[in-house]
Amino acid sequence: MEKEYKRTLITSALPYTNGPVHIGHLAGVYIPADIYARYLRLAGRDVLFVGGSDEHGVPITLKARAEGVTPQDIVDRYHKLIKESFEGLGISFDIYSRTTSKVHHETASEFFRHLYDKGEFIEQSSEQLYDPEAGQFLADRYVTGECPHCHNPKAYGDQCEACGTSLNATDLINPKSAISGATPELRTTRHWYLPLDKWEPKLRQWILEGHKEWKTNVYGQCKSWLDMGLQPRAVSRDLSWGVPVPVEGAEGKVLYVWFDAPIGYISNTKELLPDSWEKWWKDPESRIINFIGKDNIVFHCIVFPAMMMAYGDGFQLPDNVPANEFLNLEGDKISTSRNWAVWLNEYLVDFPGKQDVLRYVLTANAPETKDNDFTWADFQARNNNELAAILGNFVNRVTVLTHKYYGGTAPAAGEYLDIDNDAFAEMERLKESLTSNLETYHFREALKDAMGIARMGNKYLQDCEPWKVIKTDPERVATVMNVCLQICGSLAVAMEPFMPFMSEKLVATLGMDKPRWSDIARRDLIPVGRTIGQPELLFEKIDDEAIKKQTDRLEAIKKENALKAWQPAPVQAECKIEDFEKLDIRVGTVLECDRVKKADKLLVFKIDDGTGEPRTIVSGIAQSYRPEQLVGKQVLFIANLAPAKIRGIVSQGMILSALNSDGKLVVAAPSAKTSAGAQVK
Ligand code: MF3
Ligand code: ZN
Repeated sequence: MEKEYKRTLITSALPYTNGPVHIGHLAGVYIPADIYARYLRLAGRDVLFVGGSDEHGVPITLKARAEGVTPQDIVDRYHKLIKESFEGLGISFDIYSRTTSKVHHETASEFFRHLYDKGEFIEQSSEQLYDPEAGQFLADRYVTGECPHCHNPKAYGDQCEACGTSLNATDLINPKSAISGATPELRTTRHWYLPLDKWEPKLRQWILEGHKEWKTNVYGQCKSWLDMGLQPRAVSRDLSWGVPVPVEGAEGKVLYVWFDAPIGYISNTKELLPDSWEKWWKDPESRIINFIGKDNIVFHCIVFPAMMMAYGDGFQLPDNVPANEFLNLEGDKISTSRNWAVWLNEYLVDFPGKQDVLRYVLTANAPETKDNDFTWADFQARNNNELAAILGNFVNRVTVLTHKYYGGTAPAAGEYLDIDNDAFAEMERLKESLTSNLETYHFREALKDAMGIARMGNKYLQDCEPWKVIKTDPERVATVMNVCLQICGSLAVAMEPFMPFMSEKLVATLGMDKPRWSDIARRDLIPVGRTIGQPELLFEKIDDEAIKKQTDRLEAIKKENALKAWQPAPVQAECKIEDFEKLDIRVGTVLECDRVKKADKLLVFKIDDGTGEPRTIVSGIAQSYRPEQLVGKQVLFIANLAPAKIRGIVSQGMILSALNSDGKLVVAAPSAKTSAGAQVK
C-alpha cells in the first residue's frame, strides 16, 4: 500500500521569459501538471499548484541587448504574456509569480547565505573566458563553439543541444563571444562551488535505492549522471542581471540562474502563504511533485536536491519528478530562436473557445515515453473524429432526445436490464483504470479511459435505439435516457482535468453541483426531475481552411529559416586551367521549350547553337521555370558533354544554372545579346 499523504505540492518548471510559451512547453510540463492538480482537487485532496516565470539567465540579457532595451523590459513583456496565456488555457495555478519579485530575491539570497555560513561552498579561483571587446566574462549562452564530444559547431557554453551533454564554457573548441563575436581570452575570477560529490552517496541512496518507481527516462538519466561521478558546480557568475551574491566583496557577481530558479518554487509558495508555506515544504506528510521537461532532469533530481540537503532544516526532496520527453512540430525540433513553434498566445487568438481541443490533442499525443510529433492534420482529425464525432455527438444526442421526449426533464429509470448494468459496470472499470493512470502520471492512457466512457455511451445509445423503441415501449426509453444522462454526468467529471471548459459547460447543462471524483459511475448522479439545459454544441468541426492557414504560416517560416541559414557551398578542390579548357561552354538561343511528359522536373529545349541545326537538351529546371518564360532567351550550355538518353530523349549537352538560396534554379546567360554558338572562355 502506498503511503497516504496529507497534501501535495505540485510545481511546474518556471519558463524563461525570453519568449512566449509554445506547445512543447504545454505538452511536456503545464498540461500534465494541470491535469494532475485538477484531478487531486476533484478527489478532495489538499493540493497547491505553484508556477512562475524564470526571469534571470543569459538568453534574456542577450535578447534585451539585441533589441536595445533592458532585461527588465523583456521580462515584464513576456511574464505578462505568459501569465495571461496560461490563464487563457485554464492552467489552474494557485500562484503564478516571478523570480524578479522581492520575496524571491530575499529567499534566494537567504538560501545562499545560509549555505555560505554553514561552509557548504568551496570558494575557488579559476580561469574563465573573457570578452575583451565587451569587457565582461562569458559563461553559458554568452559563448558558442565546437562541442568537444560530438563536434557540433554551434554548442553553447552550458550545453550542446546536438548531443545533450552539459558543458563548461572552457570546454568549447574555438569559442566565440555571443556578444561581440570576439575570440575570448582567459582571465582569473573567483566563484562559489557547491560540492555535488559530497552529496553523491546520499543522492545515490535516495534515487537509485529509494525511487525505482520513477519514470525510466528520469531514473536512467540520474543513474548515468551518478555513475559518471559528480563534481563541484559553480553557483555564481560574473554578470549584472540576477540575484546579487550576498557576500562581501562579491560585487559584479550574481547567483547562477539554475541556483536561484528552483528556489523560486519556495519563494512562490511563500508569497502565496506567508504564514503556512513551511508545511508544504517541510512536513513529512506533505509530498512534492516536480513537473518538468527532460532537459531539466539533472537540475531537479541532482543539483536542487543537493542544495536542499546542504540547507537541511527539514526541507523535503521531491517524491516524484515526472519529466516528459520533447514534442516536435511537423517533424522538426521546436525552437524559439528559429520561430518554429505553435505559440500559445497566437493559438488562443486563432482558435477562440477551443482551448480544450489543444489540451486534448497535446495530452493524447503527449511525449511521455519518447519524443512525439504535433501535426496540424492530426489536430484536425482528433477534433473532428474524436471530440466532435464521439464525445460531442453523444452528449448532443442525449440532450436533444431528453428535450424531445421529456421536455428537458430527467426521466425515472425503471427496471435495469443486463445492458444497463453492463454500462455501469464498464464505467466503474474505466473509472478505476482512469484513476490509477492519473495517480501514476500516465495521462495519455488516462485520457483514453475518459474517452472510453464516451465511446461506451455512444455504443449503448446505438444498441438501445430509443428512437425506435419509443413507439412500442416508452417505459424502456425512460430507463435508457436516464442511464444516458448518468453517463453524461460521469463524463462531465471524468473530463474535467483534461478539458475544464467543456466540463464546465456540461456541468451547467446537466444542472450539477460542484463535481467530485467519486461521482463518476454513480447511478443517481442526475436525479429524476432534474431540468436539463438546451442542447449545446460542445465541439465544432474544424475546417480545412483554418488548418491551411496554420500550415501556410509554418511553410513561410521554413522558407525564411532556410534563407537565413543559407551559406555558399565550400569551394571544390583546385583544378588546372587545362581542366577548365576541356569544357566547351557556349551561348545558345532557346527556340522551343516544353515539359517532358510524366516528369515534373524536366524541360526539353531546342536550342539555336549557331550551326543551323537545332540542338536538343533536357534540363531539370521545370520547378523553377515555366517553358514559355524561356523561349527566345539566351542560355549558356556545355556543348561537348557526351550525349545521354533521358526519358527516351537524347540530350546533347547541359544548360548551366545557379542554385539560389531559396532553392530555385536561375539560368545562366550572357549579360548582353550574343551570337548563338559563341564560346565562353
Ligand atoms: N527556465 C528553465 C527552462 O525553461 C526551467 C527552470 S525550472 C526551475 O528550462 F526549477 F529552475 F525553476
Ligand atoms: Zn555535442
